[in-house]
Amino acid sequence: MASTSSSYKKVLTLDSINQNIRNVEYAVRGEISNRANDYSNQLHQKNKLPFDSVVSANIGNPQQQPHLAQKPLTFWRQVAALTEYPDLIENQEAIKLFPKDARERAKHILQDVGSVGAYSHSKGAQSIREHIAQYIEERDGFPSDPEMIYLTAGASAGVQLLMSVLISNANVGIMIPIPQYPLYSAALSFYNAQPVKYFLNSDDDWSIDVKQMAKEVDDARAKGIDVRALVVINPGNPTGSCLSKDNIRQIIQLAYEKNLLVMADEVYQANIYKPNDLPFVSFKKVLCEFGKSSKAEEQSIAKEVELVSFHSISKGVSGECGRRGGYFELTNISPDVEGQIYKMASVNLCPSIQGQIGMDLLVRPPKKGEESFELYEKEVNDIHQTLLERSRKMADKFNQLEGIHCGEAQGALYLFPQINLPQKALKKAKEENRQPDEYYCLRLLDATGICVVPGGGFGKKAKEDGTIFLRTTILAKETDAFVDRFGTFHQQFLKEFGTP
Ligand SMILES: Cc1ncc(COP(=O)(O)O)c(C=O)c1O
Repeated sequence: MASTSSSYKKVLTLDSINQNIRNVEYAVRGEISNRANDYSNQLHQKNKLPFDSVVSANIGNPQQQPHLAQKPLTFWRQVAALTEYPDLIENQEAIKLFPKDARERAKHILQDVGSVGAYSHSKGAQSIREHIAQYIEERDGFPSDPEMIYLTAGASAGVQLLMSVLISNANVGIMIPIPQYPLYSAALSFYNAQPVKYFLNSDDDWSIDVKQMAKEVDDARAKGIDVRALVVINPGNPTGSCLSKDNIRQIIQLAYEKNLLVMADEVYQANIYKPNDLPFVSFKKVLCEFGKSSKAEEQSIAKEVELVSFHSISKGVSGECGRRGGYFELTNISPDVEGQIYKMASVNLCPSIQGQIGMDLLVRPPKKGEESFELYEKEVNDIHQTLLERSRKMADKFNQLEGIHCGEAQGALYLFPQINLPQKALKKAKEENRQPDEYYCLRLLDATGICVVPGGGFGKKAKEDGTIFLRTTILAKETDAFVDRFGTFHQQFLKEFGTP
């Protein structure tokens, strides 16, 4: 056919698309992680690189193969398998393979959801929401209403749904911690709202200075920003810190005084390393406890402060990131608005059924006396112990290296070491048009195959004096090899650029 000159012009160009999307940044899967993927492909093709494997320490994805490779909990996978292929439940051969409680659980779940291939209720299967409510009641000692629980495709989907409801115009402000998990800044860019930053105190285990936070609200409001909500991540990502109950109380009090909705991201609630000193305490529990006070104002805090709490199956000991399961619970949200949230959840039909099943398993682990209990307990304890040991070993190693300071993880799956870079390295970074932390992390990747995220990706930018931060997960299976590779790199880096 003769070629004709076409009048067709691309509809989608960088200038024509939603410009909010261009403003979205998501460092945990940004340039450095793309380069790491590229190295991984090169190693597959047997290309020679200075290292023989890429270690993805940039994202809390515990089951990622081959270097993190946390083994899935057996009970979870047994129930998931049976719900996928229900014919196995009564099959004589399968009975030898699957314990009775796993078969009963699968049967029970299927009685409600019918088939994992069918849509469920838009909030999630009724029985699963009831189980989540029971879990919350047992955890907190206060009632929870299954109708106020929404299952989601991971916590991320829940956060985005809530942001889409909260943000009605470009003048809306949402308080986010710095450093923060970039889901929040990304969602604010996407929905075109104003991030109102509050700064976690690096000298005090990343605690929240509520007075400073109040000032940030006042300053933003003085500039005309309609500050509506505050996001708290507890246990923290990237900081690995756990908030004390007092600190949580102060934050809720502040929310009341300043008329703010609280979004409590509690996806790391099961990753706790100092359970005696810093146990996990939920925002919901602390909010409800205000209701026990004899003071009228405190009772009104419990009845009025709007709270949305998020949880996920991606973290904890399950680490089932790929299944995309999570929930949020609404507290003190007006019924009209709840109706609108329900409508929006309905537009998405329903979250993945296997994600919902994961959530059911998270809130209803095998009980003592049931066939799977012992193995389950052992697997869970082993994972907790391994994470604790790895986090200590890595923090110790960081602290032995010149110019690095790293706090112990109190919770979550990360360490957030502070590194003092020599002036010559800062100069070199500038010459290469890179931020100092980005430069250091790229050099680390190029030399060792270790992929971490620069502090700037969480809003914690390099300081003028050469102080940078980076975030690494504590999930690398070969922790010794990881810390050795890192240590050798750091020493060579200082040899090249001089000591800080
Ligand atoms: C603080 C925080 N919130 C939410 C998420 C997203 O979790 P999900 O996989 O449930 O979407 C993550 C993932 O790393 C996270 O660190």
